[in-house]
Amino acid sequence: MAEQILYDWMESIVQRLQLRAYVAGLGGVIALNSLVTQQRMSHENGITCRGELHVVDDPQFPEHEFFTPGRVFSCRVRHGAASWRDDAKLVVRSGSLKFADARGESPLDLLMNTGDVPLFWNVRNFWSFMKGTMGGRGKDWLPDLRANPQALRGGTVSVRRDPESFADMVYNSQVCFGFVGVDGIYRYARYRLAPADFDGVESGEPNEQDRSHPWLQNPLADETRNRNYLKDEMTTRLNVEHRPVGYVLQVQLRERPSSFEPEWVSSAFPWDETVTPFHDVAVVTLTEALDHAEAQLTWFDLSNHPDSLPVPLGRSIDDPHSLNDIRLAGKWARRARLYSYEKRGMPGPIPDSRLAPDWIAAPPMAEPPGS
Ligand code: HEM
Repeated sequence: MAEQILYDWMESIVQRLQLRAYVAGLGGVIALNSLVTQQRMSHENGITCRGELHVVDDPQFPEHEFFTPGRVFSCRVRHGAASWRDDAKLVVRSGSLKFADARGESPLDLLMNTGDVPLFWNVRNFWSFMKGTMGGRGKDWLPDLRANPQALRGGTVSVRRDPESFADMVYNSQVCFGFVGVDGIYRYARYRLAPADFDGVESGEPNEQDRSHPWLQNPLADETRNRNYLKDEMTTRLNVEHRPVGYVLQVQLRERPSSFEPEWVSSAFPWDETVTPFHDVAVVTLTEALDHAEAQLTWFDLSNHPDSLPVPLGRSIDDPHSLNDIRLAGKWARRARLYSYEKRGMPGPIPDSRLAPDWIAAPPMAEPPGS
């Protein structure tokens, strides 16, 4: 018995050290990449907007000291594409919400992507995904997708093709965060940002063909829209037509068992809405799109949160919470990117044309569409 306890203790120490090593190694590589390329490791292609956020007057979730009824925040939302510098590619889209109209510090940041499950759900398979990404994406992801059918599912449900507007998609936190109510009970929370008038159908959901090979991300051969069409739509709507964009921030909550970590904590398992309903948290209204420089200087960080909304951490590279450990280490990549702006100047906006030298086709396309 004593031997078993000692063995378990040693094993847990080794697992934690392994996680620390992965976080340091991967975090270092990602930071170096941002320093050299001056780009976000992910979601470089994006637009930042400002507006206001109102916590609902009659919350249907357990009383919480941060989400008090009627509380008002200024806010920013950055919409982006998880990879590639072309709005017409088949990519995961994002909506990151900052509870302050500020570049960085805020009481709470929530980073959300389209799709209810991601392409990776712990540090081990994030590393597998990264190998395909560093290899060049496209077919280089196939070994990971073949080895992990769940990664293929994540990619298939998350990508969006040619959406009409960022305002017509739903963004999910996917991983679990902590939610400690006034009652002192620790619950797990998942958030989503949905269009105010969401009817259950998102713009840009992939058709059968795209779903059969979501790793082929090039624009369609007959694409006529430019590389920035989706960001342009948002800017025109907010800054020229003065038509605000409305979202509802919602939360799903499940009580954390006291003695074990259930399987459903993993972002590989979406929570059935009919069993764990979404509750409205706040109404978000965006009124202005910010210029390129302000957008690039805006960053989001999981460490922006109150104590009552804790970020659970992992115990091994197979622990679903380990994604939070490595995302927190992403602050070095962000710092490296901002430092590179200071030293070498900020890179300009993405050109409209696909003939510009920074446009990449994977797999190669002889004639870039709509160029
Ligand atoms: C399901 C898990 C994840 C979700 C939902 C997620 C979501 C996002 C979103 C929405 C953004 C864009 C933020 C913006 O607009 O500036 C972002 C950026 C970023 N993410 Fe993730 N992410 C996840 C996992 C990871 C992992 C595992 C890493 C590993 C280090 C990571 C590192 C980063 C970095 C470095 C940035 C860019 C930071 C910057 O330069 O400003 N993310 N993520």
